[in-house]
Amino acid sequence: MKMLQEKITHEGIVLSEEVLKVDSFLNHQVDPQLMQAIGHEFAERFGQEGITKILTIESSGIAPSVMAGLTLGVPVIFARKRASLTLNQNLLSAEVKSFTKKETNTISVSGDFLTAGDTLLIIDDFLANGQAALGLLDIAEKAGAKVAGIGIVIEKGFQPGGQLLRNRGVRVESLAIVESLNGGHVTFRKEAQPK
Ligand code: G4P
Repeated sequence: MKMLQEKITHEGIVLSEEVLKVDSFLNHQVDPQLMQAIGHEFAERFGQEGITKILTIESSGIAPSVMAGLTLGVPVIFARKRASLTLNQNLLSAEVKSFTKKETNTISVSGDFLTAGDTLLIIDDFLANGQAALGLLDIAEKAGAKVAGIGIVIEKGFQPGGQLLRNRGVRVESLAIVESLNGGHVTFRKEAQPK
């Protein structure tokens, strides 16, 4: 997706050979116009799949998911990473280990909003080791819901998450695939070049 790649190129900060900082438009400050374009792109890619709901995880998955939900005309559910005062019954939960942060979170969604009749589009901001996506797949399975695919804003192609999920037969659509961050420079994978 051209607009996204240009934004990453101009505003992304390479913190190390493994970490890309995109706080100016995705992880802290949010660019609504870019999110809208991202939402349209996901809707275009998954529009024929009969999606009934979008499933994401707080916090940075929410903005692109809401925009995709707006375009597809479906609700967005975000998994919580912490206990909530009000979300405490009929929970569907999964363990998510973060290699980056070296911590494990229990993520939860209310079974009131996720049912066996749902066809889900899972969306997240980054795909690195794939643990968040696996946790969301686990929750979808516990609900008996069908997963049409996973939409990722930025996939780090040099980390194993993408391969892990695709090897499971899950359709993964990443709007930008970063091939390498070597030398302080962002290199994109060819398949994700501008249309
Ligand atoms: P995984 O889910 O693919 O296994 O990812 P991992 O555990 O490695 O990442 C944990 C957190 O770090 C996630 O955010 C993920 O989006 C983020 N992350 C991973 N690699 C990068 C990177 O190169 N750049 C940026 N900016 N973030 C990265 P989170 O803790 O869920 O944060 P948030 O959604 O609340 O913002």
